[in-house]
Amino acid sequence: MNIRDDFPILQRTSRGKPLVYLDNGATTQKPQQVIDTIDRYYRQHNANVHRAAHELAEEATALLEECRNKAQAFVNAAHRESMIFTRGTTEGINLVAQVIEDKIQAGQDIVISQLEHHSNIVPWQLLAQRTGANIKAIDIDEHGDLDLGSAASLITENTALLAITHISNGLGSVNPVANLVEQAKQVGALTLVDGAQAVLHARIDVQAMDCDFYVFSGHKMFAPTGIGILYGRLELLNALPPWQGGGEMIDQVSIEASTYQQAPFRFEAGTPNIAGCAGLGAAFDYIDGLPMEELIRQEEQLVNRALSGLKQIPGLRLIGEPNKRASVISFLLGGGHPNDVGTLLDQQGIAVRSGHHCNMPLMTRLGIPGTVRASFSLYNNEADVDALLAGVEKAATFL
Ligand SMILES: Cc1ncc(COP(=O)(O)O)c(C=O)c1O
Repeated sequence: MNIRDDFPILQRTSRGKPLVYLDNGATTQKPQQVIDTIDRYYRQHNANVHRAAHELAEEATALLEECRNKAQAFVNAAHRESMIFTRGTTEGINLVAQVIEDKIQAGQDIVISQLEHHSNIVPWQLLAQRTGANIKAIDIDEHGDLDLGSAASLITENTALLAITHISNGLGSVNPVANLVEQAKQVGALTLVDGAQAVLHARIDVQAMDCDFYVFSGHKMFAPTGIGILYGRLELLNALPPWQGGGEMIDQVSIEASTYQQAPFRFEAGTPNIAGCAGLGAAFDYIDGLPMEELIRQEEQLVNRALSGLKQIPGLRLIGEPNKRASVISFLLGGGHPNDVGTLLDQQGIAVRSGHHCNMPLMTRLGIPGTVRASFSLYNNEADVDALLAGVEKAATFL
């Protein structure tokens, strides 16, 4: 199935060449359906939510609350109240890192991994500094998969929290998150899964995964920037303190003190990103209408085609050959700096990312400054792969 025609930006050129967009790990393009919904929201429905007794406010509130229902269905959560609107993955993780502070004791361990994005490292470092906890990182093996022996030795009775990525943004490794969550549960630890890279590439089922928290960003799944979702286990959310104070999150306010709403409102102070919710709702609908399994399979075939082509290019070194890979291919070319390779590809209209990909500890672990990263989405096609291969071959002649 070809969904390219739904994405108007894919018709444009870049540097005078047809655009080959392979930077989907950074952000995805938006289908017309999402663009139209945001446009319609501002033309027809714009109002503040939950507040006024007028028709526009009712419509805006319905758009936002319907998006919450769709988010619930998307991750198969048991309760719609578990779905909290955030700015994105980063904000979701920071929210959790603030509200669980009382559950972390000095000397306990916060277990992450060498594969984590800075968003799933730095908030825990800040929490560790406030609480006196230690950060420990599960190592990777020579393929770029998590080393399960290392995981088993780090997840102990002393673990307060396991915070782990579902899919690595640097290498594409798909982690056995349900298995790791189970190990963490056995020792009584809290669990958070960073789903930023998983949303279009894996089926997400938070009940099957049994994690306490799951976070993702709308912009990596065809929705606008500035909107994301934090899923939290409902009993846990309702036992945690708020993180920001303001309108919407309160029950009663006096000058001296306030009482708070239950989840989700407890964690949604102030006017939310209503247009973003409308756009995210449209993205959920759009994805719902797609034959996802077929498209994911097609994407896997493209990634495999790209991998076999890249392997033929002299001087090209793949970085990471995980057992199960989704969407992402990282590589180095000859002695060339990743940024130079990125620039040479850009000149040919090919958009990839180069650098450390907010994975500095991973790059240090691998002993490299960064990589060139091609990351695929459901609208990429064989022509994109062929352009990438030709582009890299050409770049190789300059390096
Ligand atoms: C694995 C992972 N975690 C977290 C993030 C941060 O997402 P955002 O910048 O949308 O908050 C990203 C973004 O690239 C990511 O790939």
